[in-house]
Amino acid sequence: MLRKRGSVIFCGTFLFITWNAILVLLLWGRPPTGQPDEPGREQSELAEKPTNDVVGDVLRMADTFEAELEMQKKILLQIQNHQLLWDSSIKDRPKVADPHQSVMPILVIACNRVTVRRCLDKLLELRPSAELYPIIVSQDCGHAETAEVIQSYGNKVTHLKQPDLSDIAVQPGHKKFQGYYKISRHYRWALNQVFNTLSHSSVVIVEDDLEVAPDFFEYFRALLPLLQADPSLWCVSAWNDNGRDGYVDPGKANLLYRTDFFPGLGWMVLKEVWEELEPKWPASFWDDWMRQPEQRRNRACIRPEISRTLTFGRQGVSLGQFYDKYLRYIKLNTEFVPFTKIDLSYLKEDTYRENFQKEVYSAPVVTYEDVKQGQLKGQGPYRLQYSSKDSFKVMAKNLGIMDDLKSGVPRAGYRGVVSFMSRGRRIYLAPPRGWTKYDTTWS
Ligand code: UD1
Ligand code: MN
Repeated sequence: MLRKRGSVIFCGTFLFITWNAILVLLLWGRPPTGQPDEPGREQSELAEKPTNDVVGDVLRMADTFEAELEMQKKILLQIQNHQLLWDSSIKDRPKVADPHQSVMPILVIACNRVTVRRCLDKLLELRPSAELYPIIVSQDCGHAETAEVIQSYGNKVTHLKQPDLSDIAVQPGHKKFQGYYKISRHYRWALNQVFNTLSHSSVVIVEDDLEVAPDFFEYFRALLPLLQADPSLWCVSAWNDNGRDGYVDPGKANLLYRTDFFPGLGWMVLKEVWEELEPKWPASFWDDWMRQPEQRRNRACIRPEISRTLTFGRQGVSLGQFYDKYLRYIKLNTEFVPFTKIDLSYLKEDTYRENFQKEVYSAPVVTYEDVKQGQLKGQGPYRLQYSSKDSFKVMAKNLGIMDDLKSGVPRAGYRGVVSFMSRGRRIYLAPPRGWTKYDTTWS
């Protein structure tokens, strides 16, 4: 593009100079009007020779000059236009940051599992551009074998090593939680690297036991402008806590939600939010800390109907129990949804809240027994009401959705409502109409 504009300007200038040169030659060689050229005479002599019609001559010359000047003016204007186009295309490029072109780094949190290879292979297989999506692998734990695996990717990834491998002094009785302290320390260091040392303005964080979906990059790319524009959002996550097979609508791979629950597990955050959290970053359990009202401050995350990450990490810091019961069943999306080409304005706070509330509270109320026994006749959606912590827990547990609450917020919930599928019908597990806030004592 630049080259093309440059050559247009060059051609214009060339034309302009050539035209002037021809003009000068023409005017010099121009025979006096009314008198045929006399052969054998020197041109200079002819030019000097006075004619009878001097005034007419001057007028005709003036006309020619006028037409000439008009033509030159046109050429000059054309050159100027191209010059302006050229200049603005150069100057505007770094100034007007195109959200579809900004760099979006992926931070992979690694420690001592060589299976980080599965995570990296998938990321590299799907990455649309190395320039736009630099992959930064931050390794804790000093595990040599894992370091070798990461190193084997050469310059396809950046390998950082968390330097402080010392044990952390923990509060009494927390010895068994040492791992969570180390994870927290590592996150703080790695995110400071990304935002402060490497000066990025956003990041997508992926743990080493996550595999990503085909449209993982497309999803985050499309949501970045929304995250930047909407202060009531503080993250975009790839994870649906209730995203097990049978609990999501397989025909709605494009469906996204707002959620008051921080899902983590493949999530994007902006530098501004990190600057706010970093000074008070906790010594351990960073994810549950994020879920506390002081940190969340009523902000929501975007999450998909069908997860864009899958966790394969049975052996980890927390025991495998949770993994075998829930995590391993979370369905990974397989269909590529062109999110950057889809209108996502329905996710804007006011629009979303209004439409969601209308959708949930206009759905007919059904009983837990109706749902459980498959008595529902119509196609839905239906509303299932809970009015206490216990009724929420009982229904959630029996229907197979996550029954734990963090700071009063149910997993994947939005304004107390949990959306899921049951026997092919959409169910909203919802508090009574007129909900205002979470009860943080519910846990
Ligand atoms: C769980 C969460 C995880 C969260 C962690 C901290 C799930 C499925 N996982 O970890 O998202 O970050 O609690 O509350 O809910 N790691 C280190 N240093 C260590 C040990 C681990 O950096 O000393 C890294 C691992 O490489 C991994 C991450 O921390 O990327 C989580 O470790 P993992 O062993 O997978 O623990 P989870 O029980 O899954
Ligand atoms: Mn894990």
